Amino acid sequence: MVTIKENTLFVTNEALSLIIKVNAYGRLELVHLGRPVDEGDAQSLTVQPALGWGNSVLYEEGDTASCLERLPLFYSEQGRSDYRESPIELLKDGKPFTADFKFFGMEELERAEKSLSGLPFAQDPLSEIKITMKSVAGELTLYHYISVFETALCFRTVLENGGDAVTLTKLASCSVDVPGTYNMDTFGGGWIAEAHRSTALVEQARVVNESAYGFSSAVRNPAVMLSSLGSTEESGNVYGFNLIYSGNHCTSAQRSPQGLTRVVSGINPDSFSKVLENGDFFETPEVAVTFSADGFNGMSRNMHRFVLGHIVPRYWADRSRPIVYNSWEGSGFDFTEGKLVSLARKAQVLGCETFVLDDGWFGARNDDHAGLGDYNVNRKKLPGGIKRLSEKVRALGLGFGLWFEPEGINPDSDLYRKHPEWAMHQEGLKDIYGRNQLLLDLRIPEVRDYIVENVGRIIDEAEISFVKWDMNRQSSLRGAEAHEYILGLYEVLGRIFKVRPHVLLESCSSGGNRFDLGMFCFGPQAWASDDTDPVERLDIQQGFSYFYPQSCISAHVSASPHAQTLRSTPVNMRFNVSAFGVLGYELNLNYIVPTEDKAIKEQIEFYKAHRRALQFGSFRRIKSDEGTVIWQVSSEKEHLLGLFHRLIHAAPGYEYIKAFVPEGTYTVKSRVQTLRVGSFGPLLKHVTPVEFNPNGRVVDIADKNYRMEDAVFTAECSSKALESGIPIMNLFTGTGYSDKIRAQKDFGSNVFVIKRKKDKQEGKEE
Ligand code: GLA
Repeated sequence: MVTIKENTLFVTNEALSLIIKVNAYGRLELVHLGRPVDEGDAQSLTVQPALGWGNSVLYEEGDTASCLERLPLFYSEQGRSDYRESPIELLKDGKPFTADFKFFGMEELERAEKSLSGLPFAQDPLSEIKITMKSVAGELTLYHYISVFETALCFRTVLENGGDAVTLTKLASCSVDVPGTYNMDTFGGGWIAEAHRSTALVEQARVVNESAYGFSSAVRNPAVMLSSLGSTEESGNVYGFNLIYSGNHCTSAQRSPQGLTRVVSGINPDSFSKVLENGDFFETPEVAVTFSADGFNGMSRNMHRFVLGHIVPRYWADRSRPIVYNSWEGSGFDFTEGKLVSLARKAQVLGCETFVLDDGWFGARNDDHAGLGDYNVNRKKLPGGIKRLSEKVRALGLGFGLWFEPEGINPDSDLYRKHPEWAMHQEGLKDIYGRNQLLLDLRIPEVRDYIVENVGRIIDEAEISFVKWDMNRQSSLRGAEAHEYILGLYEVLGRIFKVRPHVLLESCSSGGNRFDLGMFCFGPQAWASDDTDPVERLDIQQGFSYFYPQSCISAHVSASPHAQTLRSTPVNMRFNVSAFGVLGYELNLNYIVPTEDKAIKEQIEFYKAHRRALQFGSFRRIKSDEGTVIWQVSSEKEHLLGLFHRLIHAAPGYEYIKAFVPEGTYTVKSRVQTLRVGSFGPLLKHVTPVEFNPNGRVVDIADKNYRMEDAVFTAECSSKALESGIPIMNLFTGTGYSDKIRAQKDFGSNVFVIKRKKDKQEGKEE
């Protein structure tokens, strides 16, 4: 709901309210941003400044309440008595320039205005508001756009110059001042260590979350939470901010002496500089903002709903995602058509639905030194081309997917030999490489055409239904040039995928380097990390879960011991973790033993039966500590709990599972799991009547052909008992194997299906 009355804007939705009042000096006072309130509250929520503060400068001589620094403001620039971080910075003739923007007008638009520069925006707002501000001299105009969604608001800003040239060095998407002291929670780490949550207290020293890599980056994801101190998953005031942008970003927070926390979010201003001539404008990306008084889970629910409802392409918003078999971790660059078709056949028998050929199919690409930039098929590996491979794969009843890295170029490629000027070099400097490659200059129209034509042609010729779009090096572009690159990327993605909505785009950037809302506007899911070790993935997927729904998080079962950690984990753990995302398999199927084969088949059947809840159910973090992680997903029909252990200790105590479900009586049943015989070593004597050498041939053969059943937990109880927590059977304690214990060791896990008593029947694939 939106009302504009007497220069006061009141906006409210299911999650938050916003009140902006134009004050006596034409400044936008941010009366409220947070918990939903009533329109009539505007007056009581307005601050009442005291009679001046010591050495403060007053905006208007004689009015002690006019010191801007002391007020909660919306988008307040420095230079006129506000000394906090400025969302806008300008130079005129090389000198800092204060425009002194004042209110000019405010309206609710009849139709939302589209991006002027090709940035992706959240789709289908319920309403859009435009606030116009003009510089005192009248030559500069600022437009603030506020789009209203069910559970979020999006802010963006446009600056237009109608006078002499100015240089823009910073233009944030939004700047808000909210009362209170907060923690800033951010997500990052780096390659194979994405989305680890870290917390910093926001005091008067500014806390900053930013990227200068040329993309949003795995080091610092653009998503930021501000939470009241002591917030938990279920309680506390939590704001979520996330930019709809894939380039260099910056979100900062700082508390003022009056206890107002200013949050400024937008394109990273570092090195940014853009000359605006008379008639030029600059537009920022949108930043999505939500709020919940129900802790981190409440904030996540709001963000997930917003992402599914307004960010991911409409075609995929609610569509089941296929279970993919991806060739990369199993085959790398080493494949032939015959080998791939044989793998596809095996994947199909296991229940996979799409076969994706990863890197290595084009040019002279036998390792990562050559071929990027070329689109001619490597005929030594694939004599019949991509088209014939796709036909053979599709004849098996699978979809066919292909990997591309269109933004990269190896100097050892036909494209580079023909167009070295299409690659980005740094004038006067030696080229620097990342993964042996440079980036193509997506600011050049011919480069964009080249990518659009080649990728589009191959998708159409080979009837490709899934594209993995990778990008594997950091950029050397800075400031406004890095932004122009991102605009070029968005143009390319739009031209290829908006006209082929049925093609499922999975974005990737050495894993999760571009896991952001900008990319999700073009493709509904992203490869979350090159790290597929399930124990590492607990942190990575949990980190992403704060802002991104499970259907955005691509998660594959890979081989054990793991390629990056050398950690051995049970195939159950690998599946159970991946099942809380978009499931896939990425291991050499020729090397799995027959019993694993059966276990995988059962996993896939289970996933298909519960796919709706696993991919689109609402997600909740129930527990997360050093030893245990518990996640819950809930659809209208059922609830699933994933219980995961890291290292366990001897003589474990009772273990409880907890779930939040609507009132009623429920059955709880754990997924049937089998265990490797060989994993019990000398303890096999607890299980078998005769003693075997745990390292001998008999155990080895048994291990490959037989798996033991682990205990299955069942219970019937009320929603209240579930909310309070119910005990499950104990873990193995070294005193025997029976159907009353879960014979699990380190990295053991279970998935529980919770159903309302009346619809007890196991779900079938919808
Ligand atoms: C990147 C991706 C991987 C894989 C390889 C192929 O590292 O993140 O998933 O596609 O490239 O070279």
